[in-house]
Amino acid sequence: MKEIKIGVIGTGRVGLVTAAGFADKGFEVWGVDNDRKKIEKLKNKESPFYEPELDELIKKNFERLHFTEEIKDAVSNCDILFICVGTPQREDGSADLSFVEGVTRQIAGCLDKYILIVEKSTVPVKTAEWIKKVMRLYLKKNVEYDVASNPEFLREGKAVYDFMYPDRIVIGVESEKAKNILLEIYKDFNSEIVITDIKTAEIIKHASNAFLATKISFINMISDLCDKVGADVDEVAHAMGLDERIGKEFLKAGIGYGGSCFPKDIKAFKRIGDEYKLNFSLLECVDRINAQRPLKFFEKVKSALWSVRGKTLCIWGLSFKPDTDDIREAPSIRIVKILHDEGAILNLYDPKAIPEFKKVFPEGERIRYFNSPYDSAKGSHAILILTEWDEFKNLDLGKLRSLVEVPIIVDGRNIFKKEEIAEKGFSYYPMGKPPCESF
Ligand code: UDX
Repeated sequence: MKEIKIGVIGTGRVGLVTAAGFADKGFEVWGVDNDRKKIEKLKNKESPFYEPELDELIKKNFERLHFTEEIKDAVSNCDILFICVGTPQREDGSADLSFVEGVTRQIAGCLDKYILIVEKSTVPVKTAEWIKKVMRLYLKKNVEYDVASNPEFLREGKAVYDFMYPDRIVIGVESEKAKNILLEIYKDFNSEIVITDIKTAEIIKHASNAFLATKISFINMISDLCDKVGADVDEVAHAMGLDERIGKEFLKAGIGYGGSCFPKDIKAFKRIGDEYKLNFSLLECVDRINAQRPLKFFEKVKSALWSVRGKTLCIWGLSFKPDTDDIREAPSIRIVKILHDEGAILNLYDPKAIPEFKKVFPEGERIRYFNSPYDSAKGSHAILILTEWDEFKNLDLGKLRSLVEVPIIVDGRNIFKKEEIAEKGFSYYPMGKPPCESF
């Protein structure tokens, strides 16, 4: 067991992966959450959400993992505390930091020895200054502490891998002591470590997410042009990506980005620009292009089917991306709503996200859930693909053809090669590429 003890406050997707990941690196870790149900599940070695490899990691390292509802347990046992609580979006687009503030006050109220407080959640620049202010206001005993920033770049569905093999580790510090503690806990990671000041570290996180989202909206803009003139966006993206200055990642056109980070972070970063009276309108465009993607997809559906009223549409993929059960800000939510409002009968299938989706769209006469992609396709007038789960790429298209009423696939994620699919008698409508009609 390593000497430094680590506390993680908030056992959501970032916090729990961080806790289990550090436990796997040999540290004793205290995971704190005020949600009793979550803690009970964790004490039973179960992850409260689906993330590949996470359950195994928790089970494997359980002897080094302690789960508690009390912040004071982590404060008294640990040398370093990661704040991983949510920073939800407020109505005006800015980040709601009340959870960060609340946690800080609790830490201040029970601190009786040195501790390093590290913000890991995505927070606006200068949040650390607020954390220090709150510490000064609420500290009961005259003890030393440090605040640092160590932003998280985990992707859902690949979070465990990203934790173990990060592209870079960013450490924003203002004391040698804080720097040394963070360097010590990241000693066994084979990644470049960027050491900087706290404000710079805070901006690195927002800037990275904003840039990635910009790449996606950019290629979606090009996708619309390709649709209009009959060009192929995937080939445009491929050739663009061969230029090392551009890079091939995050140039996949489709129905847009969702999830708990990009939509929220773009809006929050735009608000930060406004606060300093800077022109961040670029991000407004990124956001607007993304918000239009479900409607663009609906146009595509109409170009394939004309009217959807009374038709049975099979929908594959509800999570905002593959390998997660997360549907936060998923484009599927808006698309399902539009199609339902238009009078379609919807057969929904997703390998993991159905329980979450049912909370938003309960089962009903025109909303039906299925346990397999084949069952959902039976008698349908079109299959619509909203998430690029691997499962969909490896289906027996011949079998599928025999199940559907009308062989039409509208693909919001461009997962198929049109030749393959046309061979089986399907008409295929991808995004930003010419359709391939079989009739
Ligand atoms: C993102 C960042 O990648 C991660 O570094 C940060 O810590 C949290 O936010 P995540 O939200 O898990 O991670 O998913 P990501 O893989 O980045 O995808 C985000 C969205 O963009 C998904 O809806 C995905 O479908 C979409 N996307 C991604 C595209 O539409 N096209 C692409 O080329 C890439």
